[in-house]
Amino acid sequence: MTTSHPLTQDELKALVGQAALQYVVPGGIVGVGTGSTVNKFIDALVGMKDQIRGAVSSSVASTERLKALGIPVFDANEVESLAVYIDGADEIDGHGYMVKGGGAALTREKIVAALASRFVCIVDESKLVAALGRFPLPVEVIPMAAHHITRRFAALGGAARVRMKDGQPLLTDNGQQILDVTGLTIADPLAFESEVNQWPGVVTVGVFAHQKASVCLLGTAQGVVKTFTY
Ligand code: 5RP
Repeated sequence: MTTSHPLTQDELKALVGQAALQYVVPGGIVGVGTGSTVNKFIDALVGMKDQIRGAVSSSVASTERLKALGIPVFDANEVESLAVYIDGADEIDGHGYMVKGGGAALTREKIVAALASRFVCIVDESKLVAALGRFPLPVEVIPMAAHHITRRFAALGGAARVRMKDGQPLLTDNGQQILDVTGLTIADPLAFESEVNQWPGVVTVGVFAHQKASVCLLGTAQGVVKTFTY
């Protein structure tokens, strides 16, 4: 793409959304994430909708968008495996470890990602970090455990806040709450994810290390850069 102005963040998201189509397997079912970057991917996927059987979606929002565009949506329980899952991230490092959940869809995102052989992460270059921890870490929790989990994060140096919407705790698609945790150092994402995931009341921690990205399509001023492949 040639332009006379620097690409906006929105244009970078559209670029990577379009580029992700190369990973969609004709005749298959594609795993679809959540967020503004994925929305660009869904919009691009419309051009291929007659070549795929449909999608498994990671949120009510993505399901509604897919259906509105005429793309069939399968329940995750209807499929045994997926060739590919395509999603954005709030942060990604050079190993493919990510922080996700800015859109509160982290639990379903991890479930759909677990079905897929390959995780293609689509981000603009603002999301690339040397080490995880800049973006407030989303953690989906059972509400009755929120204060206990907040104290456990405080012991690690983190400050947890319940995510709010319209003056009330935001409820996820699963009817649970989100804690956003600042001030953490996530030096070992694999160990951190394993540790926090087993705290009672934690539904899902937004570190995606055990299910890291296999490919990262990074939207840059120079175009789409494929940063690594595992
Ligand atoms: C939603 C997510 C999204 O992938 C993440 O928040 C990035 O979103 P966007 O593409 O809008 O920046 O994890 O739960």
